[in-house]
Amino acid sequence: MNFQELLNNKVETVEKIVMSYLPKEEGMQSRIMEAMNYSVLAGGKRLRPLLLSESFQMYGGTGEVYKPFMAALEMIHTYSLVHDDLPAMDNDLYRRGKKTTHAQFGEAIAILAGDGLLNYAYETAAKAFSMANTQDVAKAFAVLASKAGIYGMVGGQTVDVIAEKEHKSLSLDEIMYVHANKTAALLQAPLMIGAILAGADDAQVSLMEKVGYNVGIAFQIQDDILDVTSTFDELGKPIGSDAEQGKETYVTLKGLDEAAKDVERLSKEAMDILLGVPGDHAFLEALISHLITRRK
Ligand code: IPE
Ligand code: IPE
Ligand code: MG
Ligand code: MG
Ligand code: MG
Repeated sequence: MNFQELLNNKVETVEKIVMSYLPKEEGMQSRIMEAMNYSVLAGGKRLRPLLLSESFQMYGGTGEVYKPFMAALEMIHTYSLVHDDLPAMDNDLYRRGKKTTHAQFGEAIAILAGDGLLNYAYETAAKAFSMANTQDVAKAFAVLASKAGIYGMVGGQTVDVIAEKEHKSLSLDEIMYVHANKTAALLQAPLMIGAILAGADDAQVSLMEKVGYNVGIAFQIQDDILDVTSTFDELGKPIGSDAEQGKETYVTLKGLDEAAKDVERLSKEAMDILLGVPGDHAFLEALISHLITRRK
């Protein structure tokens, strides 16, 4: 089986797990569940839950405790996208090849769907407490909360959106803060949580945090590159969105060539760190390498 086939199979498995945790569309408030499920089921690479299950397996985890966390991460990631696309933020009408949640359901329901996904993520992750060692689950829960919050994704989005709205140019340090938080934090979380739930020690969890940092920065630089070089059909979201918002990105700061070199360098650094990890990390390495040249 080649890498792409293996990846497709793994993503299919990930999707089944994530879907099994989605809420039923019922009750007087069913519209909110429809909007939540619409945004999660729209597709996407499922990178975060995939990283979580790979890390869990790499560290020899057994049982099913990682599954609720996979779903929780995809819910938090999806909520971040639903809100990121709102008129008040990036004002985008397409995502994952479909209309964005606010374009489909209106702005009020999209805001509530984001709120719903965020809360339901923790309701879902909380199911893990009855499935395994409570101390490990509590530690994983804390990582999820902090990487998603004001010291993680929300913090990064805040600096990003202030720069965009106030037309502030960002220094390289500030751009790195934005990338590290708005994007890398939600890639660090699954790698760390997989390790924690598998019983890995603190040193290994911090190695995973480093891998996630490098992969995450590279991932966001590539996202900025694709905003300039890709097509709507390939990407499933509008290209030129950053320029339209007058946004300073890694590409406007360093240029396309330099940006592409940095994606490669950071990805290689991540792969080097993985060499020091026990267990089978062949697929994770191949995945990181695949992301360097991703077109979507
Ligand atoms: C998009 O994330 C937002 C960024 C952090 C760049 P993805 O590129 O992982 O989006 P999906 O989940 O595949 O749609
Ligand atoms: C957003 O970054 C990352 C999030 C935390 C949602 P972008 O605004 O560049 O993401 P896209 O390009 O809309 O997916
Ligand atoms: Mg944005
Ligand atoms: Mg955006
Ligand atoms: Mg982008």
